[in-house]
Amino acid sequence: MRSASVRGTPRKGLMGGVAAAVALASVSLFTGAPASSAAPAPRVDNPYSGARVYVNPEWSAKAAAEPGGDRIANQPTGVWLDRIAAIEGVNGGMGLRDHLDEAVSQSGGQPLVIQLVVYDLPGRDCAALASNGELGPDELPRYKSEFIDPIAAILADPAYADLRILTVVEIDSLPNLVTNTSGRPTAVPACDVMKQNGNYVKGIGYALSKFGAIENVYNYLDSAHHGWIGWDDNFGASAELFAEAARAEGSTPANVHGFITNTANYSPTREPHFTIDDSVNGTSVRQSKWVDWNRYVDELTFAQAFRQRLVQAGFDSGVGMLIDTSRNGWGGSARPTGPGPRTNVDEYVNGGRIDRRIHPGNWCNQSGAGLGERPAAAPASGIDAYVWMKPPGESDGASEEIPNEEGKGFDRMCDPTYEGNPLNGNNPPGSLPDAPLSGHWFSAQFQELMANAYPPL
Ligand code: BGC
Repeated sequence: MRSASVRGTPRKGLMGGVAAAVALASVSLFTGAPASSAAPAPRVDNPYSGARVYVNPEWSAKAAAEPGGDRIANQPTGVWLDRIAAIEGVNGGMGLRDHLDEAVSQSGGQPLVIQLVVYDLPGRDCAALASNGELGPDELPRYKSEFIDPIAAILADPAYADLRILTVVEIDSLPNLVTNTSGRPTAVPACDVMKQNGNYVKGIGYALSKFGAIENVYNYLDSAHHGWIGWDDNFGASAELFAEAARAEGSTPANVHGFITNTANYSPTREPHFTIDDSVNGTSVRQSKWVDWNRYVDELTFAQAFRQRLVQAGFDSGVGMLIDTSRNGWGGSARPTGPGPRTNVDEYVNGGRIDRRIHPGNWCNQSGAGLGERPAAAPASGIDAYVWMKPPGESDGASEEIPNEEGKGFDRMCDPTYEGNPLNGNNPPGSLPDAPLSGHWFSAQFQELMANAYPPL
């Protein structure tokens, strides 16, 4: 995997392995407390190495209740803290402490990662409506005191000190400030508001500093996906903005253990039948309509390159990447089995690409998608893990207006009859019909994801 170099603070190497064990043992000698609850274990380089990952019993039950769902019901998925009420649990469901208690019991005293998605920024998801959150653009004080502080207090409970608590910090936010603000063809007024008030940057800096102070928490910052920030205009600017956020509100880049790409998106891990370096009759695939001058055609090449750029922006040289592979498999009968014809770049790319979306800007309940690589630790250089952060079967957004009290809007990108907008090149959104609100169970999608899984189930 990546270099074994010791990261910033506090990391293995400060007091690792045997030294730490001896120190813990001697503490327990004096206190009489079991060594395991005396202090959090020092952070390890890759939290997934040598660890199992928490299976969310609520998701698992829904998956198992589906015909054929038992084939994947034991896979680990992300636990989403998507509103203040989720800390205590919504509609009688499990709250954060319930999940952590269950994680302790699943761990059986062995290393276990629990994956939490922290997702409630003020003015959340400014360029889309389906996951607009409960907090208005100016509600940074509430974000801090009613969301981040209570979560941090629970995570710091010594009862959870042996867990490797992984936080995915705020997807859908910072890249919007790069790509969807004034001066860009895809500008959205709500994103200008968030850029001007600085509340994404401040909120993320605050979250990172609070969680980073807890020794067994591993912060992973969201870093979009190749089809969002893989272009030259967005790549470096995003890395610099992430570094700015990591330095906001008293945080430092040392609070960031890694980054995640492709969260809840559909970009393939690898395009097996073409690479960015290919050309057809002397014309680069970068000039194809699909690639459209992007520097990357898939998540693995993007994540590995972006990792280097993040280090250049000031993050630790040991940062590791996660790739959400929950829904990027693109198997089934429509999956190309070889490269497209070398007649021209468009036919070559379109004939060979496994990503069957109408446009790479499409993101809602994609028709034809399948489960991707199963969660795995250290699958490739620079990659800490393939993860299923988005729980398969949970909708990305409703395909029509549904009144609700979750702050969820109706985004026409989830309506298959929509004609599109500049964000997706004015194409149809390619989303499945009859979809429920984001986060709600979508049986038809779950079934399709299993049928089109790649590797197949
Ligand atoms: C929704 C959340 C949900 C998450 C995971 C998001 O799009 O806004 O409410 O928890 O997806 O399914």
